[in-house]
Amino acid sequence: MIPAMRPVIVAGNWKMHTTPAEAGELAATIARRTNEPDVVRVLCPPFVSLAAVRDALEAEPGAGAVAVGAQNVHHETTGPYTGEVSAHMLQGLASWVIVGHSERRRDAGETDELISRKVQRALDTGLRVILCVGEQLEDREAGHAADLVRTQVRGSLDGVDVAAIAPLLTIAYEPVWAIGTGRHAQGSDAAAMAAVIRATLGGLGFDDRGEEIPVLYGGSVSSSNIGDFMDEPSIDGALVGGASLKPDEMAGIVARAGLTARARAQR
Ligand code: PGA
Repeated sequence: MIPAMRPVIVAGNWKMHTTPAEAGELAATIARRTNEPDVVRVLCPPFVSLAAVRDALEAEPGAGAVAVGAQNVHHETTGPYTGEVSAHMLQGLASWVIVGHSERRRDAGETDELISRKVQRALDTGLRVILCVGEQLEDREAGHAADLVRTQVRGSLDGVDVAAIAPLLTIAYEPVWAIGTGRHAQGSDAAAMAAVIRATLGGLGFDDRGEEIPVLYGGSVSSSNIGDFMDEPSIDGALVGGASLKPDEMAGIVARAGLTARARAQR
């Protein structure tokens, strides 16, 4: 496997933080502080701040390379779904979307079956998908982490058109016990799970294209631990939560990711 085939990606998930005015300002600051042409940068603000972030990035000279992502999408295109947002409504606002985040699995009861429908809708509209998977602490302690992640990958992509999805799919391995806890996984554990994920994709009909799918690590990523993950050839970047709200942290994370991106490109 030649890692240079895969881009290095740093995506920030702002969760339920920032008003539109704050989001625009934060996006512009992060864009300025993370000017790394070798790293794909994505900022995922709340729905109501997507337009502000898009506009702020457009107004920021040289920041055009920062993409905007949504944090969720509905599984239908239109209809009586109060408070929901469909993939085609995101057109012009976002080019990426996070699907299946563990906080939505937990708080909105999202199942793998529902997530697979969201993935398909996002793809139908040409959105790039960051599909999140990851085990609970009990699963890891019981030695079931790999089985659980395998099941999530299979279930979340069930029935999805593999040929269409391959160029648009990124998977984020986010162990639930590491999210927002300050307790991050080991780089080697994340790498082992990336291998499980790619092997599972292979079995789903991705075949060799499974090796082309970027796998990110997420869960308490910071500028001081990003190197542990970027040192692993099978990990292609990070999905960053809390630290993505801090420009200094994002600058450090993206700079470290840029070192890996350049080293890979020279191989
Ligand atoms: P965290 O969140 O970096 O704050 O742990 C990661 C995520 O939920 O994507």
